[in-house]
Amino acid sequence: MVKISINNLHKSFGENRVLRGLTLDVYEGEILCIIGKSGTGKSVIMKHLVGMIEPDSGTITVDDELFTGSEFETRSRIISKYGILFQGGALFDSMNIYDNVAFGLRRKGIPEDEIKPVVEQSLHNVGLAGAGGLLPSDLSGGMQKRAALARSIAVKPQIMIYDEPTTGVDPITGGAVDRLIKEMKNIYGITSIVVTHDMKSAYRIADRIAMLYEGTIIETGKPDKIKNSINPFVRQFIEGTVHGPIKVI
Ligand SMILES: Nc1ncnc2c1ncn2[C@@H]1O[C@H](COP(=O)(O)OP(=O)(O)O)[C@@H](O)[C@H]1O
Ligand SMILES: [Mg+2]
Repeated sequence: MVKISINNLHKSFGENRVLRGLTLDVYEGEILCIIGKSGTGKSVIMKHLVGMIEPDSGTITVDDELFTGSEFETRSRIISKYGILFQGGALFDSMNIYDNVAFGLRRKGIPEDEIKPVVEQSLHNVGLAGAGGLLPSDLSGGMQKRAALARSIAVKPQIMIYDEPTTGVDPITGGAVDRLIKEMKNIYGITSIVVTHDMKSAYRIADRIAMLYEGTIIETGKPDKIKNSINPFVRQFIEGTVHGPIKVI
């Protein structure tokens, strides 16, 4: 079943035509990795999904309901289906981990006695049981990422968006983040969109991979299909030769 349908999306910033008729379906419960070079518009896609950017033309539907251009109430309801793990993690430095994870639940007006078990379960699910009393500055980078993930999943999103989750972390932490993304899918049945330029990570976690190039998706398929793609732009990207062959002078 299609969860999100992106149809012929166009977006320019001045002369910079970032999205040029992008069409992509995301199926319920899958992990879809969107890959592409830096600066190709991966974050721009993500921002359209959560309503931070409006397209010049084209549509996005979620659960067969039109999101783009919809009324405030519909928009808010659809936006509340999403959880996002931003690149930097973005915890509140002055709040301890418990309060960070409780933040979204408190904002929803959920009573404290109902919040507690949810916070504890969320921390447990990311391997941070018992860390509630610590401050973000007490945690390593990898643990901060886990805490940020616990905060996102605590509000039980139907869809998780991960923006470059393994960029800038060491390989061991990267592997742990990959495992967590899969676990979140398995535990909560979350539809997951992972925006990344880390091919290793994409192969490890993706049910499907979609390659963004010059404003459109040029190929979509299971990791094996992408691995064996004959499209030269896909090959160039997965082989890491995006900057052309090295010249020996
Ligand atoms: N709010 C904005 N205003 C102007 N240009 C933007 C804005 N957001 C993104 N861009 C441009 O869109 C292009 C794609 O950016 P982005 O989606 O961040 O790339 P990435 O694939 O690395 O996530 C870049 O050229 C960037 O400069
Ligand atoms: Mg980005």
